[in-house]
Amino acid sequence: MDIDSSVATKLIRGRRSIFPRSYSQQPVADSIIEEMLENANWAPTHKFTEPWRFVVFNGEGLKQFADFQSSTYKKHAEADGTFDEVRYQKLVNNPLKASHIIAVGMKRDPEERVPEIEEVISVGCAVHNMQLTAAAYGLGSYLSTPKIIHYPEFKPFLGLGENDQFLGIFYIGSFEGEWPKSTRKAIANKVKWVS
Ligand SMILES: Cc1cc2nc3c(=O)[nH]c(=O)nc-3n(C[C@H](O)[C@H](O)[C@H](O)COP(=O)(O)O)c2cc1C
Repeated sequence: MDIDSSVATKLIRGRRSIFPRSYSQQPVADSIIEEMLENANWAPTHKFTEPWRFVVFNGEGLKQFADFQSSTYKKHAEADGTFDEVRYQKLVNNPLKASHIIAVGMKRDPEERVPEIEEVISVGCAVHNMQLTAAAYGLGSYLSTPKIIHYPEFKPFLGLGENDQFLGIFYIGSFEGEWPKSTRKAIANKVKWVS
């Protein structure tokens, strides 16, 4: 393959989760979002089920998503006595700090030709492709998986069926701060070689 491996390594290790509180209000071009989605579409997929499904929200769509997730949370949390005002305000405001958010779904193969876990892994790879692309453009992005994504109202809202899964909310925004650093514990402690 005609690619400098050091570029791939730098991108993979330099990719960071960057959160909505750090986004500037500068909108991200739709063309970059489209490139991220196209790159997501090149994720590995067992039996070519291509299970990733995305709903992109921007502009007024961000408010629609914010209204839906916050009102759904409020309804459930008030019913079971767990309502938390700070949590509610985050659900109202966080989407509005992003340039785009992408609801990430897994579409179950109608013939269930591969185990569900493989489809979830595949969608995870697709999200990673999007995050690597965002990082290459110096954009902030992160995958959010709050408990509320499991409320049943989300699937019909996102056009997902009963057997599909809503896996998370991918946030994207412009970022002008110092690129964050991270650490990992040594790989040697997580690997066993059998030679
Ligand atoms: C499947 C998955 C779910 C995640 N969900 C959340 C989340 O709900 N909230 C959050 O703050 N970060 C979430 N993250 C991002 C992690 O916090 C982040 O990857 C971790 O802090 C490591 O930082 P890095 O991505 O910059 O290397 C999630 C990451 C993955 C892979």
